[in-house]
Amino acid sequence: MMTPDPQTAPAPLLAVEGLSASYGGAWVLRDVSLVMQEGEFLSVIGANTAGKSTLLKAISGLMPKVEGRITFRGTDLTATPSHRIPSLGIAHVPEGRHVFPDMTVEENLIAGAFARGTDAAIGDTLAHVFDLFPRLKERRRQLAGTLSGGEQQMVAVGRGMMLDPKLLILDEPSLGLAPMVVEEMHDRFHEIHESGVSVLLVEQNVSLALESAERAYVMSSGEIEFEGVAKDLANDDRIRKAYLGI
Ligand SMILES: Nc1ncnc2c1ncn2[C@@H]1O[C@H](COP(=O)(O)OP(=O)(O)O)[C@@H](O)[C@H]1O
Ligand SMILES: [Mg+2]
Repeated sequence: MMTPDPQTAPAPLLAVEGLSASYGGAWVLRDVSLVMQEGEFLSVIGANTAGKSTLLKAISGLMPKVEGRITFRGTDLTATPSHRIPSLGIAHVPEGRHVFPDMTVEENLIAGAFARGTDAAIGDTLAHVFDLFPRLKERRRQLAGTLSGGEQQMVAVGRGMMLDPKLLILDEPSLGLAPMVVEEMHDRFHEIHESGVSVLLVEQNVSLALESAERAYVMSSGEIEFEGVAKDLANDDRIRKAYLGI
């Protein structure tokens, strides 16, 4: 097998190496390593409390204590203040949506562009987000708190897209949504990916996560258990028994 020449091989988009993280007490992530290439659609799956959200938070600089290395296009994220991370092109859509309920849909979206500075083409990006989610255009003047769960998730994803990100991080975007809405959301994630944005998805719905992604990592008790091509994992007996109930 040929080893890629480190001089010419493209640097990965994101590289997590030997990452441990804690909220102040015990380590909840231990020695996690993960690599993501430019343009990839990657999923992280695993049982509840496996550490998936913690991993995403560590990437976004939101964990109080980390050891190890996280680099994004060569920039060391563990040495970057968390408020600078969005301006590198990383949009994190957190679990639970967290829209501003008393602001309109449009105000919520514009708030997502905060890290781009004042001269960015925010109007063009807003038009792009409205193309992606026409429902949000119809409801642009409505208070976000009055929207359905699915619509609020669209606001949360749209707000991330307002950053014009290189990497879109999605934490449990289909939690609590009706199956039809979940499918529609995933169609939008594909559209976003097709447009050139790399996507890192954490998803409770394992079959959907493996259908959507090109590759996936499986986490268990704060560690990476295994990783592979998503299609292969979907046919792997260990995954089928533990996560798909078949
Ligand atoms: N804010 C917090 N403070 C302390 N412990 C936390 C906090 N959030 C999560 N944890 C713990 O970290 C572990 C991993 O949680 P989490 O990353 O949320 O898992 P997942 O997203 O896979 O369900 C769990 O044991 C959880 O109890
Ligand atoms: Mg979680």
